[in-house]
Amino acid sequence: MEQAVVKILLLGICGYGSNYIKEISERDIPGIKIEGICEVVPNAADLYPIIKEQNIPIYQTPEDFYKEHTADLAVVSTPIHLHYSQIVTCLTHGSNVLTEKPVCTSVEGAHKLEQLEKETGKFISVGYQLNYSRDVLALKHDILDDHFGKPIYMKALHAMRRGDKYYARNSWAGHIDVKGCAVNDSPFNNACAHQFQVMTFLLGERLERAAELADVQAEPYKGNPNVDNFDTITVLAHTVSGVPLWYGTGHAIVDKKLGPIAEYRFEKGTVYFGKDFGSGPIAEYVYIGDTGEQIDYGRIPKGERLQKFYDAIEAVRTGKHPVCTVQCAIPHLEAVEKIAKLPIVSIPAEGVEDIREDDDTFHTIVGLHDIFITCYKNREMLSQEGLPGNK
Ligand SMILES: NC(=O)c1ccc[n+]([C@@H]2O[C@H](COP(=O)([O-])OP(=O)(O)OC[C@H]3O[C@@H](n4cnc5c(N)ncnc54)[C@H](O)[C@@H]3O)[C@@H](O)[C@H]2O)c1
Repeated sequence: MEQAVVKILLLGICGYGSNYIKEISERDIPGIKIEGICEVVPNAADLYPIIKEQNIPIYQTPEDFYKEHTADLAVVSTPIHLHYSQIVTCLTHGSNVLTEKPVCTSVEGAHKLEQLEKETGKFISVGYQLNYSRDVLALKHDILDDHFGKPIYMKALHAMRRGDKYYARNSWAGHIDVKGCAVNDSPFNNACAHQFQVMTFLLGERLERAAELADVQAEPYKGNPNVDNFDTITVLAHTVSGVPLWYGTGHAIVDKKLGPIAEYRFEKGTVYFGKDFGSGPIAEYVYIGDTGEQIDYGRIPKGERLQKFYDAIEAVRTGKHPVCTVQCAIPHLEAVEKIAKLPIVSIPAEGVEDIREDDDTFHTIVGLHDIFITCYKNREMLSQEGLPGNK
């Protein structure tokens, strides 16, 4: 039997959302059609040849699109503060949704979206791509099968410098609030969200659940004086079953990229990401059991780069919910909300070095590279390694 065509609405195609339209343009994905686009950039139709070739209509709002069309799947890649209302519109007009992370801007909103999924019978799949990666899913299966024993702790470090250009790319980057809506944009909520969220995902009691958090402590700092929100942070959270999760991330750092590195300790052994086995760090998950067992998850093909997109299309056809549910997004969102209540410490001017490179300016916290490495080793907070305390 021939498969029905999956009709897709793309919301936001000029930022991260360009990945989806490029994927469709460059790959011959069978049985899909871009039914319409929702985008506010005036010349969007000139940016991707597929739009004119296939005569794809562009609308300013999803409401305008639904006046004339239906869609099986809506892909939301718009600014964070628009997600909630756009997802509601798409679900209530009969579309399933693949939304970029974070699912929305509050835990309360996320619970309402879960309720709306039930009422409409449509799914929301959240775009934390690591959750769809087949090596991560294999690792999660092994954790759920109790192969490693109980989790003892998890930690991860992922920082990357971002300068004035990054923050100037739109009207909400680095902002706490946009027109009264909490955005809480930061490395923890945006560019480096994945390494924290995946720890909660891996510890979820089922494949499509993340571990809930009992508490969240954090030390948010601001190295770049021009940014509204913090740009550097250490976080220590505990899951409800008491597993400590340590995370360090930031943009006010001299390194183009520091990590990601991670270490997940279990009763019987340790899972590493980015461990140096003597010939450089391996950017793959590897389990080393205390009695010598080794599992190299790097051998497992990860799937497509946009596996989340392919899984969402498949889910439309099969009716099976994609793995990253709204619940999988909630513990990370809860941490974002709790951190937003904490005071941000501004690093004094003498502790910040401005670096001019690549036609950009980076405001970097002096010594942060070494401080982060030590904090990671000892699972410490930044103030314990010399940044001004925020207590
Ligand atoms: N999964 C990842 O690794 C990853 C990476 C980067 C960004 N993201 C996520 O992607 C989303 C977008 O981030 P970004 O950095 O591309 O943002 P952006 O602001 O740079 O781009 C968003 C796009 O939405 C469009 N837009 C703005 N208002 C709109 C409206 N009212 N209706 C329709 N379109 C509108 C903009 O013109 C732009 O094309 C965010 O949720 C972000 O967290 C995910």
